[in-house]
Amino acid sequence: MSETSVPEPAGPSEAHPERTTAGVGPWPGGRDEWPSEAHYDPELLEHGDSRNVIDRYRYWSMEAIVADLDEHRHPFHVAIENWQHDMNIGSIVRSANAFAADTVQIVGRRRWNKRGAMVTDRYQHVEHREDIAGLVEWAAAEGIPIIAIDNVPGCVPMETFDWPERCVMLFGQEGPGLSAEAIAAAAAVVEITQYGSTRSINASAAAAVTMYSWVTRHSPLVPRVG
Ligand SMILES: C[S@@+](CC[C@H](N)C(=O)[O-])C[C@H]1O[C@@H](n2cnc3c(N)ncnc32)[C@H](O)[C@@H]1O
Repeated sequence: MSETSVPEPAGPSEAHPERTTAGVGPWPGGRDEWPSEAHYDPELLEHGDSRNVIDRYRYWSMEAIVADLDEHRHPFHVAIENWQHDMNIGSIVRSANAFAADTVQIVGRRRWNKRGAMVTDRYQHVEHREDIAGLVEWAAAEGIPIIAIDNVPGCVPMETFDWPERCVMLFGQEGPGLSAEAIAAAAAVVEITQYGSTRSINASAAAAVTMYSWVTRHSPLVPRVG
């Protein structure tokens, strides 16, 4: 599709409230030129697509995008303790989507702060566990270790950590960090080495660094850009 043939993007609609990027306008040439593959969404072809998705998924229905992602998700999961409605959780969900995490496990309060997610949670499997005991039970059923991510005494530097391919990485909240129960449930506690004066980095920044560390070690996928 040439640049000149792409009209202005459509505004928000009830069917597609996720209008957050410049995006693309209606499919050039009108209905006569519409592609016939099932993954295309007629409403987006008609009105344009300004959702926060990579170019490959422009005009695809949300269900088709999720189904495509499901075919190549990485075998790591992300868990976050949610006792204080931490605003980092939305950003962590967004990073989990970007790095193609399998699921995100919200541990504690069911309601979580979606502000930073930029609606990426629509494309990411997000599940809930009542408490750390519930997460331990779930992880045991999955047959995967819990890897706690925090800078506490006795932790291992991430640079030297041998990431298991299948695992759940568990993050704490701003302020308290991970609970003692969470640390006790972990097969390993891993820190991101720091060099300045601050005690810690932001929890969502730590999550992005951690997922990046895992993919540099294990990802078999070709990065998706655009
Ligand atoms: C603000 S930190 C919490 C507290 C930290 N343990 C302290 O001593 O202040 C919140 C969360 O971000 C993550 N985090 C922040 N900095 C980190 C680092 N350098 N290494 C590993 N995790 C980190 C952890 O998951 C942590 O529970």
